[in-house]
Amino acid sequence: MHRLVGTAAVSALLQILLYFAAVTGVSWEEWWTYDGISGPAFWGLINPEWSLCNKGRRQSPVNLEPEKLLFDPNLRFLHIDKHRINGLISNTGHSVIFTVENETRHHINITGGPLSYKYQFHEIHIHYGLHDQFGSEHAINGYSFPAEIQIFGFNSQLYSNFSEALHKAQGIVSISLLLQLGDLSNPELRVLTEELENIKYGGAEMPVNKLSVRGLLPDTDYYMTYDGSTTAPACFETVTWIIVNKPIYITKQQLHGLRRLMQGDAKHPKAPLGNNFRPPQPLHHRAVRTNIDFDLNKYPGKTCPSMQRNMHYKAKSWTQY
Ligand SMILES: *[C@@H]1O[C@H](CO)[C@@H](O)[C@H](O)[C@H]1NC(C)=O
Ligand SMILES: *[C@@H]1O[C@H](CO)[C@@H](O)[C@H](O)[C@H]1NC(C)=O
Ligand SMILES: *[C@@H]1O[C@H](CO)[C@@H](O)[C@H](O)[C@H]1NC(C)=O
Repeated sequence: MHRLVGTAAVSALLQILLYFAAVTGVSWEEWWTYDGISGPAFWGLINPEWSLCNKGRRQSPVNLEPEKLLFDPNLRFLHIDKHRINGLISNTGHSVIFTVENETRHHINITGGPLSYKYQFHEIHIHYGLHDQFGSEHAINGYSFPAEIQIFGFNSQLYSNFSEALHKAQGIVSISLLLQLGDLSNPELRVLTEELENIKYGGAEMPVNKLSVRGLLPDTDYYMTYDGSTTAPACFETVTWIIVNKPIYITKQQLHGLRRLMQGDAKHPKAPLGNNFRPPQPLHHRAVRTNIDFDLNKYPGKTCPSMQRNMHYKAKSWTQY
């Protein structure tokens, strides 16, 4: 879809889409995609309740620029409970999502980091590309990764469940893991990808048992954090993002498994599910903070306690921290 298409033309097309939705009984919620007339540039026009997708100034994802990170000594290490949980992995037609079993008594709590409240783990989203050059939603210095895993929790001190917290202040935390191609997969990622061939079509779901959410994280205490939004409609600006500063690894085979997934059902498979990422949104002067004290780690001789770190790291050398 071309950026120059007039809004009148767009709304005429949307009327047709909505009429089609009405006669085919497709729900409103399904009326968005990652490309074309119902793609990211139009989410905010499709449904008035999604207007933040176009008008919001605290949107996600973003491109993280290492040179502009602010070291914040108040940031603590993140804590995620270690125990294993059961749940369901599903192909929603938009994404691959793992959702925790709803009657779980032993909730996984997420605390510390930049968080003022206790959050309860709720679900994991997988975004990925049909080619290795793209797939992640967050980018580092303009560099995209082949996939990104987002671990979502809701503020369980203020709200009673994930859907309520989605549109409330300080409602959601999302921990983002950037995935890099490697020969050996993160073992917990394997637990998630084992069932992919059983959820080939939109609407399919399979149980996944004994997943350690903590085990998905790479071996690092360092991260970047900023205030943003959900990356799919309704684009609520309620998310504290925590981007872990080391990638985890996914194999070619696992990526192929993901790329075989389709949006539609077996009769009408439609397009592949992949390329389900929203492009980076403007920061609009938001700060991206980090607990990486560049001066201490990289320049032991430098003592200047400046908040404005003059640090230059490139996407390629990013893994060394
Ligand atoms: C769990 O949630 C699903 C979907 O909301 C529902 O269909 C199911 O009955 C729930 N299970 C229990 C045990 O509450
Ligand atoms: C997580 O928090 C809940 C609510 O405060 C608490 O009941 C539960 O024991 C905590 N879970 C763990 C593993 O500490
Ligand atoms: C979530 O909590 C709200 C407020 O307590 C309640 O109205 C709603 O039914 C709950 N939703 C689910 C899916 O449990």
